[in-house]
Amino acid sequence: MIRRLDGQRPGFVLDTAHTTYAFSILPTGHAEHLYYGGRIPIRDAAALASLAEKHAFPAGNTVVCDPSHPEYALEELSLEVSARGRGDVRDPFVEIVHADGSRTSDFTFRSAEITNEKPPFRALPGSYDESGAVWHLCLTLEDKSRALALEVHYYVYPECDCICRSARLVNEGAEPVQLERLMSTQLDLPGSPWAVKCFHGAWISEMRHDSVVLPAGRLVFDSAAGSSSSRVNPLFLVHAPDANETSGEVYGFNLIYSGDHYASVEVGAFGKTRVVSGLQPAGFRFLLAPGESFEAPEAVMTWSGSGFAELSLRLHRFVREHIVRGAWKKKERPVLLNSWEACYFNISESRLLSLARAAKDVGVELFVMDDGWFGERSDDSHSLGDWTENRKKLPGGLAGLAKKVNDLGLRFGLWVEPEMVNVQSELYRAHPDWVMQIPGKPHAEGRNQRLLDLSNPAVQDHLIETMSRVFSSAAISYVKWDCNRIFSDAYSPCLPAERQGEVGYRYVCGLYRVMAALTERFPDILFEGCASGGNRFDLGILCYFPQIWASDNTDAVCRARIQEGYSFGYPPSVLGAHVSASPNHQTLRDTPLATRFHVASFALLGYECDLRDLSADEKREIREQIALYKKWREVLQFGDFYRGRSGNVHEWTCVSPDRRRAVGLLLRELAETDRPSERFRARGLDPDATYQFYNLMRRVDVRCFGSLINTLAPIHVRPDSVMHDAIARVVKMPGETENALLSGGALMDAGIPLHQAYCGTGFNEEVRVFPDFASRLYFMEAQASASAKKK
Ligand code: DGJ
Repeated sequence: MIRRLDGQRPGFVLDTAHTTYAFSILPTGHAEHLYYGGRIPIRDAAALASLAEKHAFPAGNTVVCDPSHPEYALEELSLEVSARGRGDVRDPFVEIVHADGSRTSDFTFRSAEITNEKPPFRALPGSYDESGAVWHLCLTLEDKSRALALEVHYYVYPECDCICRSARLVNEGAEPVQLERLMSTQLDLPGSPWAVKCFHGAWISEMRHDSVVLPAGRLVFDSAAGSSSSRVNPLFLVHAPDANETSGEVYGFNLIYSGDHYASVEVGAFGKTRVVSGLQPAGFRFLLAPGESFEAPEAVMTWSGSGFAELSLRLHRFVREHIVRGAWKKKERPVLLNSWEACYFNISESRLLSLARAAKDVGVELFVMDDGWFGERSDDSHSLGDWTENRKKLPGGLAGLAKKVNDLGLRFGLWVEPEMVNVQSELYRAHPDWVMQIPGKPHAEGRNQRLLDLSNPAVQDHLIETMSRVFSSAAISYVKWDCNRIFSDAYSPCLPAERQGEVGYRYVCGLYRVMAALTERFPDILFEGCASGGNRFDLGILCYFPQIWASDNTDAVCRARIQEGYSFGYPPSVLGAHVSASPNHQTLRDTPLATRFHVASFALLGYECDLRDLSADEKREIREQIALYKKWREVLQFGDFYRGRSGNVHEWTCVSPDRRRAVGLLLRELAETDRPSERFRARGLDPDATYQFYNLMRRVDVRCFGSLINTLAPIHVRPDSVMHDAIARVVKMPGETENALLSGGALMDAGIPLHQAYCGTGFNEEVRVFPDFASRLYFMEAQASASAKKK
C-alpha cells in the first residue's frame, strides 16, 4: 500500500507485507530517501519526519545548491533521484545535454498521484497485476529553468514484497534536448561497506556469481553486447558482508529490459552507498524534441532481512505472478526432445521421425526440430532470413512433418532465429538496407550472420508477417526463438546521424513489438527464448515468453552451478534444462544418466540426445525418469526452490506451495574419502508436519567398482571386457534405501543422516555409492496428522 503523509513536508510511505520504503520532499524540493528495509510502523507525518537526517551545515567542501537552504549539500544526501551538475558528484540518475550545450539539471517536486492500477508502457514491457493488489505512485519532478518534467513511478506489489520503479522524461520546452542517461532506479543506502553479488559469465558459463565487499569507490557491472547478455546478467544483489542463505540483509535488483544495461554501486565521500541501475549510458543518446518523452525500463527491487533464500523466494513469486503471462503462465510444461545435439544441421524427415518415435517410446510429449530446416541451411553460413522449409530435407514440408509427429502422439515445435540474416540469403540480397550495418564500411561477423535492423518498422512488419506465415503453416505448438550474435557496427540505415545513439534502445523496442504481436496472434504456442543459451536471459523476454533456454551447456555438473546462479532471481518454471549425451558435447565429461536427469528435473525437463543410440537399459531408465518427473512435475516446476550447501556439494529442495510435498537433490562434484557420513538438510518444509523421507532404490552397476570385482569373482575379470559387461547385465546389486518418518523441523535443522558413503573399505546395500558426479533425489511427503485422520 502507498500512503501520502504530509507534515511540514510531503512524505510517502510504501508498504509491502514485510518491507517499508519511505521518502519525503526536502525544503529545497528534492526527494530525500529515508528508508528501505523491514516493515516498520509509520503512523503519521511526525513518525515519518523522525526518519529524516539532520543537517545544519554543508559537510566538507561540498556545494550548496539552494542558497535559501545552506544546510543541504546534495552530495551528502540520500536522494530518490540525482542529476548532474548541482553538486552531487556521485553516479547520477539522469544526465541531459541542453540546447545550450550545458549538462546541469535540477529536478524538484511538482506533484504526486497515487492510484491502484499499473498502466502499460508505450514501447516497453513491464510488470502487471491481475489481482488488483498493485499500488502506483507517480511522483512528478521538474527542472523549472529547463521546462523538463521527470516522472518517477513506483509500483508496489505487497504480497511478494517487490517494489518496481521506472522513469519518464518529458520535454515541455521549446527546444530539443539530448538525453544521455536515464536510469530506472536509484537507492541511496545509509552507510557502508556493503557487499555486491553480480552474476557474470560467458557462453556455456552463464551465471557465475561472486560477492565483493565495496569499502570505497564505484563498482560497475554492465552489458554493452546489445543484449542483456551472458557476460553480466541484469540481476544483482547488495548485501551485508556476512549475509548468507538464512541471515543478513539483502537487497535484490533486476531490470525488465533485454538490451544493454548498467548498474553501479558506489561509496560516496560521506560513506553512503548509492545504487543505480538502468539503461547502459555508454553509446546512448536520445534526441528529445519539444513535446516528446522518453520512457526508461522498469526496475525491480526487493529486500530480505533473513538472507538470500527469502530474497530469492520473493523474486521467484514476483516473476511467476507479475512477469510471466498468457496461457502458459500456470500450465505444466511438456517434456520435450530437441533435435540439436542429436543431429545438429544434419536433419531429414526420416531422421527426425525415427528420433520422434524413440522419444514417444520413452514418454516425451513434445518433439522440437531445431536449426537446419529452411532454405539452403546445412551449416551456419546460409539462409537465415529465408524462412521456407527445405523440401529436400522435408519433402512434406513443415505441415507434413508436424502431422506425422502429431500422428505419433507428440506435439510438434520448431526453432527460428528471426532477428538475424546471413549475407548468403535471399533476404539479404533483396534488402541489404534492412541490416544493421554502416553502409560502405566493413562489418564484423559473428557466427556468419548479421542483425536485422529491428529499429526499422518495415523490418518489424516483415518479421511479424513472415513468422505468422511460418507459425500458421503447420500444427506448431512450441517455438524456440534463438538469437546467436551480439551487436557490432551498430548503425541503423533508417535513422539520421543525430539519432544513431538511439539504435540499441529502438532495436529492443522493435523486438518487443514483434514479440507482442506474435504472442498475441498465437496465444497457445509455448514460446521459449534462447540466445546462444543464456545470452538474453532477462525479465523483458519473460514478459512475452514464459521460459528461456538457460545455457547451451548441458553438462550436469556445469548445469548445477548455472541453474544455482539463476535461482537467485529466477524460478525453476522459467528455466529450460535438458539431459544430453555422455561424454557431454561441451565439456567431454562423463556423468551418470541419473545425475543428468536429477539436475535437469529441477527445471523444465527436456532431452537433447540421440535416443536411438542408447542401450535398452538406458532407455528403460529414461522412461522411468520421465514417469517420475510427470508425477512430481507440479512441485518441480512451480514449487518453491531453496539452495542448501553449494560448492563441491549441491543441495537443493523444491517444495509445493502447501508444503505437503518436496523433492531434494544432493549432488557431489568430486568424491571425498573423508566424508562417509553426511546429512541431507531440507529447506522450506512445515516444521511441525511429519514427512516420509525416501529415495527410490537404485541398483548398483558392478562396473563402477572396476578391477575390485576380482576381490570376489571366482575367475579373473578384465575391467571393461565383454565378460565384465556380461556380469554387469546379470548381477545387479541393491543400492541403499532411505526411508524414515521425521518432522519437517528435524529434516531442516538437524538434517537426516544418510547411509554411509562408500569410502574404500567395503560395500553392501547399506552403503551409498557416491563417486565423482553422483547424485540422489530424495522425496518428502507430509503425513496426514492424527487430528486430520480422525476427521
Ligand atoms: C544456439 C542455441 O542455443 C542452440 O540450442 C541451438 O538452437 C543452436 N543455436 C542452433 O543454431
